[in-house]
Amino acid sequence: MTTSPERLARLARQHIETTRLLGVDFVPVAVRTRQHSDKAAALAALRAEHDATCPHCTNATAHTQTVFGDGDPNAALMFVGEAPGAEEDRQGVPFVGASGKKLNEMIKAMGFDRTTVYIANVLKARPPDNATPTPDEAAKCGPFLARQIDIIQPAVIVTLGKPAVSYLLDTRETMTNLRGRWFEYRGIPVMPTFHPAFLLRQYTPENRAKVWSDLKAAVERLQSLGRMPPQQGKFS
Ligand code: URA
Repeated sequence: MTTSPERLARLARQHIETTRLLGVDFVPVAVRTRQHSDKAAALAALRAEHDATCPHCTNATAHTQTVFGDGDPNAALMFVGEAPGAEEDRQGVPFVGASGKKLNEMIKAMGFDRTTVYIANVLKARPPDNATPTPDEAAKCGPFLARQIDIIQPAVIVTLGKPAVSYLLDTRETMTNLRGRWFEYRGIPVMPTFHPAFLLRQYTPENRAKVWSDLKAAVERLQSLGRMPPQQGKFS
Protein backbone atom coordinates (compact mmCIF):
# COMPACT_ATOMS: atom_id res chain seq x y z
CA MET A 1 0.00 0.00 0.00
CA THR A 2 1.37 3.46 -0.85
CA THR A 3 0.88 6.28 1.62
CA SER A 4 -0.40 9.57 0.20
CA PRO A 5 1.60 12.78 0.79
CA GLU A 6 -1.42 14.17 2.71
CA ARG A 7 -1.40 11.16 5.08
CA LEU A 8 2.38 11.41 5.49
CA ALA A 9 2.06 15.12 6.31
CA ARG A 10 -0.74 14.38 8.79
CA LEU A 11 1.33 11.65 10.47
CA ALA A 12 4.34 13.97 10.59
CA ARG A 13 2.24 16.74 12.15
CA GLN A 14 0.87 14.32 14.76
CA HIS A 15 4.43 13.16 15.44
CA ILE A 16 5.59 16.74 15.98
CA GLU A 17 2.66 17.51 18.27
CA THR A 18 3.31 14.37 20.32
CA THR A 19 7.04 14.99 20.62
CA ARG A 20 6.33 18.61 21.64
CA LEU A 21 3.98 17.38 24.37
CA LEU A 22 6.84 15.16 25.56
CA GLY A 23 9.09 18.21 25.78
CA VAL A 24 11.15 17.60 22.59
CA ASP A 25 11.60 20.78 20.57
CA PHE A 26 13.25 19.43 17.44
CA VAL A 27 12.42 16.80 14.87
CA PRO A 28 15.20 14.65 13.46
CA VAL A 29 14.96 14.38 9.65
CA ALA A 30 17.03 11.80 7.73
CA VAL A 31 19.63 13.71 5.73
CA ARG A 32 20.78 11.25 3.10
CA THR A 33 17.90 8.94 2.48
CA ARG A 34 18.08 6.86 -0.70
CA GLN A 35 14.67 5.46 -1.48
CA HIS A 36 12.04 7.59 -3.17
CA SER A 37 9.51 6.82 -0.44
CA ASP A 38 12.05 7.67 2.28
CA LYS A 39 12.73 11.02 0.65
CA ALA A 40 9.01 11.70 0.22
CA ALA A 41 8.45 10.90 3.91
CA ALA A 42 11.40 13.07 4.98
CA LEU A 43 10.07 15.95 2.86
CA ALA A 44 6.57 15.52 4.33
CA ALA A 45 8.01 15.62 7.87
CA LEU A 46 10.12 18.67 7.01
CA ARG A 47 7.07 20.37 5.52
CA ALA A 48 5.06 19.79 8.69
CA GLU A 49 7.93 21.06 10.82
CA HIS A 50 8.31 24.09 8.55
CA ASP A 51 4.63 24.96 8.73
CA ALA A 52 4.64 24.67 12.51
CA THR A 53 7.92 26.44 13.27
CA CYS A 54 9.34 28.57 10.39
CA PRO A 55 10.16 31.94 11.99
CA HIS A 56 9.29 33.75 8.76
CA CYS A 57 6.21 31.88 7.53
CA THR A 58 4.48 31.49 10.90
CA ASN A 59 4.58 35.29 11.23
CA ALA A 60 3.79 36.12 7.60
CA THR A 61 0.40 37.75 6.98
CA ALA A 62 -0.12 38.02 3.21
CA HIS A 63 -0.50 34.33 2.35
CA THR A 64 -3.37 31.86 2.56
CA GLN A 65 -1.17 28.73 2.62
CA THR A 66 2.49 27.83 2.45
CA VAL A 67 4.02 26.58 -0.81
CA PHE A 68 6.63 23.99 0.09
CA GLY A 69 7.84 22.45 -3.17
CA ASP A 70 6.81 20.35 -6.13
CA GLY A 71 8.20 17.46 -8.12
CA ASP A 72 10.18 14.26 -7.81
CA PRO A 73 11.98 13.83 -4.45
CA ASN A 74 14.59 11.82 -6.38
CA ALA A 75 15.15 14.50 -9.02
CA ALA A 76 18.62 14.98 -10.51
CA LEU A 77 17.73 18.57 -11.38
CA MET A 78 16.37 21.09 -8.87
CA PHE A 79 15.22 24.67 -9.50
CA VAL A 80 15.17 27.27 -6.74
CA GLY A 81 13.10 30.45 -7.14
CA GLU A 82 12.22 33.38 -4.87
CA ALA A 83 8.78 33.09 -3.28
CA PRO A 84 5.22 32.16 -4.20
CA GLY A 85 3.07 34.67 -6.08
CA ALA A 86 -0.71 35.00 -6.09
CA GLU A 87 -1.44 31.91 -8.20
CA GLU A 88 1.08 29.80 -6.29
CA ASP A 89 -0.56 30.91 -3.04
CA ARG A 90 -3.98 29.94 -4.43
CA GLN A 91 -2.88 26.48 -5.62
CA GLY A 92 -0.20 25.71 -3.01
CA VAL A 93 2.25 24.79 -5.78
CA PRO A 94 5.37 26.73 -6.85
CA PHE A 95 5.66 28.26 -10.32
CA VAL A 96 2.12 27.79 -11.62
CA GLY A 97 1.48 31.42 -12.70
CA ALA A 98 2.97 33.31 -15.65
CA SER A 99 6.57 32.67 -14.50
CA GLY A 100 5.65 29.02 -14.09
CA LYS A 101 4.53 28.76 -17.71
CA LYS A 102 7.89 30.12 -18.82
CA LEU A 103 9.71 27.81 -16.40
CA ASN A 104 7.76 24.83 -17.78
CA GLU A 105 8.93 25.79 -21.29
CA MET A 106 12.50 26.01 -20.04
CA ILE A 107 12.25 22.59 -18.37
CA LYS A 108 10.78 21.04 -21.52
CA ALA A 109 13.43 22.64 -23.71
CA MET A 110 16.07 21.02 -21.49
CA GLY A 111 14.54 17.63 -22.28
CA PHE A 112 12.78 17.13 -18.93
CA ASP A 113 9.18 16.79 -17.86
CA ARG A 114 8.18 19.03 -14.93
CA THR A 115 7.19 15.97 -12.89
CA THR A 116 10.78 14.64 -13.06
CA VAL A 117 12.49 17.72 -11.59
CA TYR A 118 12.02 19.36 -8.17
CA ILE A 119 11.03 23.01 -7.72
CA ALA A 120 11.21 25.05 -4.51
CA ASN A 121 11.56 28.64 -3.37
CA VAL A 122 13.65 30.49 -0.80
CA LEU A 123 10.47 31.74 0.94
CA LYS A 124 7.49 29.44 1.35
CA ALA A 125 4.89 32.09 2.16
CA ARG A 126 3.75 34.69 -0.36
CA PRO A 127 5.24 38.13 0.45
CA PRO A 128 2.88 41.13 0.55
CA ASP A 129 2.56 42.77 -2.91
CA ASN A 130 4.90 40.13 -4.36
CA ALA A 131 7.84 41.96 -2.76
CA THR A 132 11.31 40.57 -3.40
CA PRO A 133 12.47 38.49 -0.39
CA THR A 134 14.85 40.40 1.86
CA PRO A 135 18.08 38.78 3.11
CA ASP A 136 16.57 38.82 6.60
CA GLU A 137 13.47 36.90 5.44
CA ALA A 138 15.66 34.49 3.47
CA ALA A 139 17.81 33.87 6.56
CA LYS A 140 14.68 32.86 8.51
CA CYS A 141 12.95 30.57 5.97
CA GLY A 142 16.03 29.54 3.95
CA PRO A 143 17.28 26.86 6.39
CA PHE A 144 14.23 24.80 5.42
CA LEU A 145 15.25 25.08 1.75
CA ALA A 146 18.74 23.94 2.79
CA ARG A 147 17.22 20.87 4.44
CA GLN A 148 15.01 20.21 1.40
CA ILE A 149 18.17 20.16 -0.71
CA ASP A 150 19.89 17.87 1.82
CA ILE A 151 17.04 15.39 1.46
CA ILE A 152 16.71 15.55 -2.32
CA GLN A 153 20.46 15.62 -3.04
CA PRO A 154 20.00 16.80 -6.64
CA ALA A 155 22.95 16.38 -9.03
CA VAL A 156 22.56 19.99 -10.27
CA ILE A 157 20.76 23.07 -8.91
CA VAL A 158 19.63 25.91 -11.20
CA THR A 159 18.85 29.09 -9.25
CA LEU A 160 16.30 31.48 -10.75
CA GLY A 161 16.98 35.16 -9.99
CA LYS A 162 19.00 36.97 -7.39
CA PRO A 163 17.41 36.06 -4.03
CA ALA A 164 17.92 32.32 -4.67
CA VAL A 165 21.58 32.55 -5.65
CA SER A 166 22.28 35.19 -2.97
CA TYR A 167 20.90 32.92 -0.27
CA LEU A 168 22.46 29.64 -1.41
CA LEU A 169 25.89 31.07 -2.20
CA ASP A 170 25.80 33.78 0.47
CA THR A 171 26.81 36.42 -2.04
CA ARG A 172 25.87 40.00 -2.92
CA GLU A 173 27.28 39.77 -6.46
CA THR A 174 25.04 40.95 -9.28
CA MET A 175 23.19 38.50 -11.54
CA THR A 176 25.27 39.78 -14.45
CA ASN A 177 28.41 38.61 -12.66
CA LEU A 178 26.93 35.34 -11.41
CA ARG A 179 24.83 33.89 -14.24
CA GLY A 180 26.46 31.43 -16.60
CA ARG A 181 29.18 30.44 -14.10
CA TRP A 182 29.39 27.25 -12.06
CA PHE A 183 29.41 27.43 -8.28
CA GLU A 184 29.03 24.82 -5.56
CA TYR A 185 26.55 24.52 -2.73
CA ARG A 186 27.55 21.81 -0.23
CA GLY A 187 29.24 19.88 -3.04
CA ILE A 188 26.32 20.28 -5.49
CA PRO A 189 27.02 22.19 -8.74
CA VAL A 190 24.93 25.38 -8.95
CA MET A 191 24.16 27.27 -12.18
CA PRO A 192 22.60 30.69 -11.54
CA THR A 193 20.34 32.08 -14.26
CA PHE A 194 17.77 34.84 -14.63
CA HIS A 195 14.31 34.47 -13.13
CA PRO A 196 11.60 33.57 -15.71
CA ALA A 197 9.73 36.76 -14.64
CA PHE A 198 12.74 38.83 -15.68
CA LEU A 199 12.78 37.01 -19.00
CA LEU A 200 9.07 37.76 -19.48
CA ARG A 201 9.64 41.44 -18.65
CA GLN A 202 12.71 41.78 -20.88
CA TYR A 203 12.17 39.21 -23.57
CA THR A 204 15.11 40.17 -25.77
CA PRO A 205 17.05 37.76 -28.01
CA GLU A 206 20.14 38.48 -25.86
CA ASN A 207 18.42 37.55 -22.59
CA ARG A 208 16.85 34.44 -24.11
CA ALA A 209 20.26 33.38 -25.44
CA LYS A 210 21.84 33.89 -22.00
CA VAL A 211 19.22 31.82 -20.21
CA TRP A 212 19.38 29.07 -22.82
CA SER A 213 23.16 28.99 -22.59
CA ASP A 214 22.88 28.58 -18.77
CA LEU A 215 20.30 25.81 -19.13
CA LYS A 216 22.40 24.04 -21.77
CA ALA A 217 25.35 24.12 -19.37
CA ALA A 218 23.14 22.45 -16.75
CA VAL A 219 22.08 19.77 -19.25
CA GLU A 220 25.70 19.11 -20.21
CA ARG A 221 26.68 18.84 -16.57
CA LEU A 222 23.88 16.35 -15.89
CA GLN A 223 24.96 14.35 -18.93
CA SER A 224 28.58 14.33 -17.81
CA LEU A 225 27.41 13.08 -14.40
CA GLY A 226 25.45 10.30 -16.12
CA ARG A 227 22.15 11.70 -14.78
CA MET A 228 20.61 12.44 -18.18
CA PRO A 229 20.78 10.74 -21.59
CA PRO A 230 22.42 12.78 -24.38
CA GLN A 231 19.74 14.79 -26.15
CA GLN A 232 19.10 18.22 -27.51
CA GLY A 233 16.78 20.89 -26.17
CA LYS A 234 15.10 23.71 -28.03
CA PHE A 235 14.31 26.99 -26.32
CA SER A 236 12.19 29.77 -27.83
N1 URA B 1 8.22 33.18 -8.69
C1 URA B 1 8.99 32.45 -7.87
O1 URA B 1 10.14 32.78 -7.62
N2 URA B 1 8.47 31.36 -7.34
C2 URA B 1 7.24 30.95 -7.59
O2 URA B 1 6.83 29.92 -7.07
C3 URA B 1 6.46 31.73 -8.48
C4 URA B 1 6.96 32.84 -9.01
